[in-house]
Amino acid sequence: MPKRLPFSRELDTPCLVIDLDALEANIRSMQSFFSDKTARLRPHFKTHKCLPIAHKQIAAGAKGITAAKVSEAEVLAWGGIKDVLIANQIVGEAKIRRLVGLARHTSVTVAVDSADNARELAAAARAAGATLGVLVEVDIGMGRCGVKPGRDAVELARIVNSQRGLAFRGLQGYEGHLVLREPGAEKDRLTVEAIRLLARTKRAIENEGLCCEEISGGGTGTYRVAASEGVMTEIQAGSYATMDARYAKVTPEFAKALFVLVTIISRPKKGLAIGDAGLKSITSEFGMGEVEGVKGAAVDRLSEEHTLIRVKGEAEKLAVGDRILVTPSHGCTTINLYDKACGVRKGYVECSWRIDGRGKSQ
Ligand SMILES: Cc1ncc(COP(=O)(O)O)c(C=O)c1O
Repeated sequence: MPKRLPFSRELDTPCLVIDLDALEANIRSMQSFFSDKTARLRPHFKTHKCLPIAHKQIAAGAKGITAAKVSEAEVLAWGGIKDVLIANQIVGEAKIRRLVGLARHTSVTVAVDSADNARELAAAARAAGATLGVLVEVDIGMGRCGVKPGRDAVELARIVNSQRGLAFRGLQGYEGHLVLREPGAEKDRLTVEAIRLLARTKRAIENEGLCCEEISGGGTGTYRVAASEGVMTEIQAGSYATMDARYAKVTPEFAKALFVLVTIISRPKKGLAIGDAGLKSITSEFGMGEVEGVKGAAVDRLSEEHTLIRVKGEAEKLAVGDRILVTPSHGCTTINLYDKACGVRKGYVECSWRIDGRGKSQ
């Protein structure tokens, strides 16, 4: 049977629930990992999209916040975050105008992987009287954005460095192809290999007489090795704060803090219970999510507004009106479905936070 969930009486469903003790413990424990490292933590906003959580991360010691989009960076800047990295390419006149406008008020750094984009950013920055920080993005094996390590990156760094309006700060390399691998020696070896591509590229850039002060990247699944090699200066981990069912398998040192509260709305037959949260309330991106605290219950399928839950044994006792918690398979694409999150502590509601960056995908 579901564990007693006293807070569920105060809430309607489906509802996004954050366990505040678990969230704060995750923030503390990640931050304390960095206490003896040269790398610093720059948590990614794309996961929680929630200013109160970003402020908790800064208060714990994070150097600044990472964003994925200009519109997220705007939320952060106007929400009082003073140092923002947009770990993506910002392309197109309208976005670049927003970007340089923001850079007049807040320290903004952006990733670049093409000379044309760098020149366009520089011209806009000069016109706005702003300076944009730039990291040259290097593809270290993920096969997404980024120039090749070595000569191509050096050439782009030289171009960025020559542009008035831009401040070349260093490199970005995200080993996204490794973050979800099972922990172990092979994952560590591949992570070190990827990061050494950045180290070699940095040396080549410095040999050209350029200062390459930042090396930014890393995620929840690789932070330990990425931050320990003495190469990275900042780690962009996001999911560690709230966690999700998928990351819980590869980083068990963090506690699950993110749940969707679901009401059982039907028990049509033996072996099946139906909840009121479907694809519009829980992502299916990395699987179905996990039912918490009800032995024998597993989410089988999601339709738009329904959770189809297989039940056996103890879980057959689930009744219409019962409330259960489901941990989503992926926090980032679940949180973005909600206007607000309910913060609970020791079983009771403590706060309701706006998901400030919801839908900020521009
Ligand atoms: C550029 C970048 N940096 C860092 C991360 C790490 O995020 P997380 O810790 O949630 O895996 C991501 C995840 O997609 C990313 O795209």
